[in-house]
Amino acid sequence: MSLIKIDGGHLLEGEVKISGAKNSVVALIPAAILCDEDVSLVNVPSISDVSALEEILCYLNVNVKRVNDEMKIVSSEMINRPIPESLASKLRASYYFMGALLGKGHKVDIYFPGGCTIGKRPIDLHLKGFRELGATITDMDNHFIIEATELKGAKIYLDVASVGATINIMLAAVKAKGKTIIENAAKEPEIINVATLLNSMGGKVKGAGTYVIEITGVDYLHSALHEVIPDRIEAGTYLIMGALLGNPLKISNIIPSHIESLIYKLREAGVDILIGDDYLVVRKNDNGYLPIDIKTAVYPGYPTDLQQPIIPFLTQCNGISKLEETIYENRFMNIPDTQKMNANIIIKDNRYAFVKGKTQLVGTKVSATDLRGGISLLICGLIADGETIIDNIKYILRGYDDIINKLQRIGAKIEIIDSE
Ligand code: EPU
Repeated sequence: MSLIKIDGGHLLEGEVKISGAKNSVVALIPAAILCDEDVSLVNVPSISDVSALEEILCYLNVNVKRVNDEMKIVSSEMINRPIPESLASKLRASYYFMGALLGKGHKVDIYFPGGCTIGKRPIDLHLKGFRELGATITDMDNHFIIEATELKGAKIYLDVASVGATINIMLAAVKAKGKTIIENAAKEPEIINVATLLNSMGGKVKGAGTYVIEITGVDYLHSALHEVIPDRIEAGTYLIMGALLGNPLKISNIIPSHIESLIYKLREAGVDILIGDDYLVVRKNDNGYLPIDIKTAVYPGYPTDLQQPIIPFLTQCNGISKLEETIYENRFMNIPDTQKMNANIIIKDNRYAFVKGKTQLVGTKVSATDLRGGISLLICGLIADGETIIDNIKYILRGYDDIINKLQRIGAKIEIIDSE
């Protein structure tokens, strides 16, 4: 078993280049099978969620060629077979094969998706959307058969502005007959990125990035070359590291406006951040930081995916910071291990975290329980006194491209070791 070993307290200096966004690419890859020709994606990150999707593509007889950060997907010989639980449960985003296969072949046989257990994470809104497009759904204890003789455009209202449901409905609707309108759609940048791919294949998607998305179905989708947007959550993660240890740290290949909510929260605490066109420069402030209050919200609010990663920063603010998690019911699994590292944190109703600082964290053995919780512990390790060992690192590798090398290059003392 592999572990991450960190020797804490080393400053981070130089430049870190951000990779393509996990939550975009995991939708773009399934979206590509809708294409009647071939699709090339560039800026594809090397993360295990992408490998898990590649496995599903191979299983469906889709031809995938990867060279560096480019992935070519040719689905002309695709076979629409039932996707077994062993493949679907490897990641959350396997659910995008529901919309993509339904749009392409009018039938999908698949299991409930996997992913981090950070809450109930139902998919009722995805299914409601498919039903309104004319599909019938047989649900046999988390094994779904979704089929339609014909998909017809419909007006679909989402009770919650869900990223997954918005994208899945777009994928199914792009080849449906007539016009689909998604109301109360999610507005995250990843949705715009997927809509842009669909449009560059000849799809007709309007309004992505707003509350109302209009999709007019087309019969044929042609080849396209498409770039994955930079990962705003990876960028935010390094920005937090830079606030704690930057000497200074430049974070490049990003779209700064995608993480404005984090930038302004960090500035409120007293972090010195310079905003460039496609980069940020952040420097540790030796005079200390003020406590801040954060409430997670849908985009452009403060992202839930940066809720756990900011906890190490809050332990270094002078006073009590308050965090409120509004999206998921179980996104504080990292807290017991953070407390083990000497953090002073009280959790209330699994919704609020009160973090009292400033405390010097101390290195110890900890365990990642989910992706963002794992990276949060890693950041704690970077600022802790002494050695931190993290196990269950598969969660971290699910979403952070080349993280060990990236951190070593900017001065962190971090490595992957084998447990005896
Ligand atoms: N929801 C429903 N019904 C649904 C779908 C969602 O009630 O049918 C609720 C969920 O219970 C949750 C909220 O809506 O309370 C948000 O869920 P959403 O569907 O937006 O989340 P998701 O699509 O499953 C994506 C990202 C998550 C990220 C969220 C919010 C992917 C594969 N995952 O999840 O990423 O937290 O959007 O931005 O894109 C991560 O990267 O660590 C991660 C968890």
